[in-house]
Amino acid sequence: MPPAPDVIAAEHDTSTPHLDSDLDSIYTTSTCDSETTSITDSVLEYVHENGRRYVSERWDKDKYLIPNDEPEQERMDIIHHMFLQLLRGKLTMAPLDAERGGRCLDLGTGTGIWAVEFADSYPKWSVLGTDLSPIQPTYLPPNCKFELEDFEQPWTLNIEKQFDFIHIRYLVGAVKDWKSFLQKCFAYVKPGGFIEISELDITRPTFQADGLPGTAIKTYTHHLGEAAAKAGARMDIVPTLAGLLGEVGFKEVKEKVFQVPIGTWPKDVGFKTLGQLGRVIASEGTEAMAIAFFTRVLGMEEGEARSLCKEASREYKDNKVHTVYHMNIMYAQKPGK
Ligand SMILES: C[S@@+](CC[C@H](N)C(=O)[O-])C[C@H]1O[C@@H](n2cnc3c(N)ncnc32)[C@H](O)[C@@H]1O
Repeated sequence: MPPAPDVIAAEHDTSTPHLDSDLDSIYTTSTCDSETTSITDSVLEYVHENGRRYVSERWDKDKYLIPNDEPEQERMDIIHHMFLQLLRGKLTMAPLDAERGGRCLDLGTGTGIWAVEFADSYPKWSVLGTDLSPIQPTYLPPNCKFELEDFEQPWTLNIEKQFDFIHIRYLVGAVKDWKSFLQKCFAYVKPGGFIEISELDITRPTFQADGLPGTAIKTYTHHLGEAAAKAGARMDIVPTLAGLLGEVGFKEVKEKVFQVPIGTWPKDVGFKTLGQLGRVIASEGTEAMAIAFFTRVLGMEEGEARSLCKEASREYKDNKVHTVYHMNIMYAQKPGK
């Protein structure tokens, strides 16, 4: 599979990515409470719709249109494996000093899988993961904790205690105003500290000339892009994020664009492994990604939305359709120190 123009081909790693920790015995139990939001209150009153479970209306019904139920949590954990495959088993591209230690913030932490593995791999660091949904584990390494927080509201985190590293992964469609979001991040990073963003625009698939184009995928992603834009959370902004990092004050912005094939059709063994993960993530995620966008934002009937998702899912599974996505991973440093 030749690299697309302006794209750095994914580096492959066939070694086993690190997944498990042998530190289980020192894990502690977190209640996942925040200083400001208790999990006993309305955050657990989830919204149930079209057979899926969504964030509580406590935040605002349309705050986040992707489910937080078990199937979606499993999919998020598979996405984590795809990132490990892309980064050759590493958790970050930023040049962090494991020995010196520091404070890390993982915004929109999801199931917390990255935060927990970061805490295990960087024992001299502490990590705080924040999210709208209390779906993180409670059995944690001692240097890891989770809080409930809406990153689009003024942060309740103490600005006096800035972070050495802010990690942002897979929040496309969740952030409405990237510039003000990144300005907030800039304020919360210590001089000399780093930020890293990893995002893929699902609405911009490309199709290799040696396979069939995905017609249902094109329709599905077109409607998804339209709905996200209408909901105010455009997904096609991914290629602009590196520029925005510079605009808000970060320096030394480094970006790498990785190819992510969907399916096992690539000949190359690294791409084949990646494509296997990509196929599960894409084909099992069509409803999760789109059904609320299609019904709530575009006003489609549930049946129409579901059948569009099913068709796209079928094509993602079809090894004759050679779909490739692009994952942008970038990091930058705050000037000073
Ligand atoms: C696709 S998941 C990615 C999870 C994680 N970053 C990862 O890579 O595994 C996006 C997460 O962002 C959270 N999220 C969306 N909008 C948010 C907001 N306004 N404030 C905090 N978290 C938010 C969602 O609840 C969800 O868990």
